[in-house]
Amino acid sequence: MSTAIENSLSVDTRVNGHAGYINGNSTSNGTPNNCTWEQQFLPPPLQLDDRARAIKIDSRLAGLMLCGATLRRVGEVFSREIENGLRERPSSLQMENTYVPELPDGTEEGVFLALDLGGTNFRVLLLELQAGQLVREDVKQYHISDALRLGPGEDLFNFLADCVQDFLRTEGMENDELSLGFTFSFPMKQHSISSGELITWTKSFKCGGMEGVDVAALLQRCLHARGLRVTVQVLLNDTTGTLVAGAQLDPAVVIGVIMGTGSNGCYMERAERVQHWEAAHERVQDVCVDIEWGAFGDNGCLSFLRTEFDKEVDDNSLLATSFTFEKYIGGKYLGELLCAVLSGLARDGLFPAIPARGSLLSAHVSLFEEENVAGVCSRTAEALRDACGRAVSRHDALVAQHVARVISNRAAQLVSVCIATLLRRMSRAHVSVAVDGSVFKRHPRIRTLMERYIALLAPNHKFSLLGAEDGSGKGSALTAAIAARIAARSL
Ligand code: BGC
Repeated sequence: MSTAIENSLSVDTRVNGHAGYINGNSTSNGTPNNCTWEQQFLPPPLQLDDRARAIKIDSRLAGLMLCGATLRRVGEVFSREIENGLRERPSSLQMENTYVPELPDGTEEGVFLALDLGGTNFRVLLLELQAGQLVREDVKQYHISDALRLGPGEDLFNFLADCVQDFLRTEGMENDELSLGFTFSFPMKQHSISSGELITWTKSFKCGGMEGVDVAALLQRCLHARGLRVTVQVLLNDTTGTLVAGAQLDPAVVIGVIMGTGSNGCYMERAERVQHWEAAHERVQDVCVDIEWGAFGDNGCLSFLRTEFDKEVDDNSLLATSFTFEKYIGGKYLGELLCAVLSGLARDGLFPAIPARGSLLSAHVSLFEEENVAGVCSRTAEALRDACGRAVSRHDALVAQHVARVISNRAAQLVSVCIATLLRRMSRAHVSVAVDGSVFKRHPRIRTLMERYIALLAPNHKFSLLGAEDGSGKGSALTAAIAARIAARSL
């Protein structure tokens, strides 16, 4: 369900029906009502009985607390990078033409296979659409081992084709002729709606020999080698799937966002503003552009945001020095960031122990936030005891909750800057933003914060956030149906 937000400065910031409770300081949203535009972006200060400790901690966290002026600056840089990317000038934003020129119109029909690769699990789905509505959905999940995620790419794609064969056997459809939508949630150079080369791996994948390889063609070869009569009809990113699935629910959806293990966004851009076309497009008015904002700033244009904690997370990551913006937002990194900050505080004597690397996940960030909202800290203290290998006090738990709040606030702000910039760029009467991903779904405060910050950053632009489930599955089938519709029209 979505609620339209008429942008104003007085946005309701209730969290799941609770009034915000911030370390003993109970206000409706944690921000005094009479503060300036600038101040409305800052998380409330840490409140501890030991005032001197609280002040020292907040000053160590200052680089993570972004004020309105800094966020405006990020928005300006983002706009510039968007323009450069669209014009094929040097930019940290890929601004990839996805060749998806239209959205669902309720005529989508047929049975489709969908593959979803990019997050923690690999899924194979069989979906049936009737008049644009999903009437059947069979799903099977497959675990991808570390050896496959980090080994040769051919092995990974052979495994994907084995999974499709296994799935079709279970469904009794091994000999059926089927169209497939491949949701491949990594940056690609797309040549058409059904082909594209991997640019670089992200998140927890790093298979050798795959950069520059057409992943749809490779999958097609592996499927044919197994005698399967399956045709890869569309190749798409999960943001595109989310936008398409969202547009089926609400025609005002023209932006798709993922806040999950990784983060990214796409939107419908005017076709004439897109430079890169490898197909005739005279009749195309708008086309979906995959921004790939995870790489925003990889050319150094955002170095003013980077803290020592971000550097630590990046240095210890699988793919260091790339996708730095994603490392501020993505669920894969929020737990590591929490760990890096608590470790920094521990080294300065402001926290009792250094948590073991890998012991804190984004689920902990959500848990600490949930307890902070509820004004309790017992499970926070328990998780910290496990992570630090020793008991921690209630005050230490409150410190960790505050850190979780500060890094969540920054993640919400940065994603909001991107969305607000798109709203201003599109300038439509009302825009719905379809959002999917584990962080958006499970973090207790993120949605409220985003609604608040987008409203502050794009005043006078009406928008709503629409939780869109399973863009990678349903969106993929809908996109395959759209491609079939377009192909039939041009016969
Ligand atoms: C990938 C994007 C994807 C996002 C969300 C990023 O790491 O580069 O293509 O959309 O994760 O899954």
